[in-house]
Amino acid sequence: MTAPKKLFIKTYGCQMNVYDSERMGDAIAATGYVSVDTPDEADLILLNTCHIREKAAEKVYSELGRYRKFKDANPDLKIGVAGCVAQAEGEEIIHRQPMVDLVVGPQAYHRLPEMLAKVDKGERAVDTDFPTEDKFDHLPRGPKARRAPSAFLTVQEGCDKFCAFCVVPYTRGSEVSRPPQKLLTEARDLVERGVAEINLLGQNVNAYLADGWTLAKLIRELAKIDGLERIRFTTSHPNDMDDDLIAAHGDVEKLMPYLHLPVQSGSDKILKLMNRKHTAADYLKVLDRIRAVRPDIALSGDFIVGFPGEEESDFQATMELCEQVRYAMAYSFKYSARPGTPAANRVTVDEDVSAERLQRLQKLLTTHQTDFQQSMVGKTLPVLLEKSARDPGQMVGKSPYLHAVHCQADKNLVGKIVNIKVTRSERNSLVGDLVV
Ligand code: SAH
Ligand code: SF4
Ligand code: F3S
Repeated sequence: MTAPKKLFIKTYGCQMNVYDSERMGDAIAATGYVSVDTPDEADLILLNTCHIREKAAEKVYSELGRYRKFKDANPDLKIGVAGCVAQAEGEEIIHRQPMVDLVVGPQAYHRLPEMLAKVDKGERAVDTDFPTEDKFDHLPRGPKARRAPSAFLTVQEGCDKFCAFCVVPYTRGSEVSRPPQKLLTEARDLVERGVAEINLLGQNVNAYLADGWTLAKLIRELAKIDGLERIRFTTSHPNDMDDDLIAAHGDVEKLMPYLHLPVQSGSDKILKLMNRKHTAADYLKVLDRIRAVRPDIALSGDFIVGFPGEEESDFQATMELCEQVRYAMAYSFKYSARPGTPAANRVTVDEDVSAERLQRLQKLLTTHQTDFQQSMVGKTLPVLLEKSARDPGQMVGKSPYLHAVHCQADKNLVGKIVNIKVTRSERNSLVGDLVV
């Protein structure tokens, strides 16, 4: 018997890519590969890529450059590019980096086994179609392995919102929701394999609609699964927060008090230029309604600074919105012009001005994050223990509010929800003691 071939997957970008990488890894394993943690000994390297900002896309080419030495050492090594750069650039990738053997877009993963067979014959394989079938139905399944306590589950993919800056509607295609019965089956299977928390994923997850089920209905049904302790979802659009989903935050105990709801800017002028189709006031109204049913909810958001047309007064409006909301956690980015998007050719804000604004915003967001973390000190929180931390005897888990929480605990407690009394807040985590 020959030794199994080795597969190395490197994942960039959002959580959906993490989920996709797992599924691709499964599918490739079913054709006789084993996964390895480093690229140097691999027979197949797959980069699952992100196209959201220029830097993200460029990383892929510098990473590919680094693989030259592996290819020189092992001429049989195959290199594939998957994900959003694959979708956006297609064949171009092979022109720019002829070492690449395979290019597969996010909707064509289920064709990987055939593509690999072609590549094994020394041919190139490129597939960036948007087929109508559900790729997840056609991906071969690997053996049923034990899973980590927290898992992602993609329920919806694609986006029809067309924000003026964003590549996602082009790289992931239009909104498609997976049938609820299949999702319930997949969720039960995850729970059987040791999963206690499921994070429902979608580019626009609260637009979920399949067989008449909304996201709220799906959450309510998932909550009935014994052994599934926690449910989360991400990422949502403010315009798709319907009444039932808001209500669910008040009455579904397993739904965690954390909501990632990006607004991008606090200026109505900029929101309009971004094609967001809501105002800052609309957004704040949604937050008020959620806070009314779940006062302790931790809010998180995304911001873009230096969007074309942003003046100091617009930026101030963003700062004021953040002051008002006081996010538990937020991500902020300098605008990056993306080819093919409506805003791509607009006159950009001076780079230094953007950089300076980003710094001011991040400083404010950090203050709020620190305050929120500090408010947890002295409290006892239910923490889902996920894995051993770097220090011996240390474990790390998640609070309901998605804080990483470190504590001393026995390895046997992985997958359990335990009470931790928080003693200290660090930069991006909490530290506490197990309450017995
Ligand atoms: N709804 C999506 C959003 C993906 S993009 C999801 O599934 O998460 C994540 C964030 O990246 C966006 O909310 C936005 O703040 C930022 N972003 C998107 N396009 C960008 C661009 N061209 N420049 C800078 N930031 C961008
Ligand atoms: Fe991109 Fe806007 Fe869709 Fe989010 S809602 S994925 S930012 S187009
Ligand atoms: Fe990036 Fe694609 Fe996700 S562009 S953020 S990997 S949907």
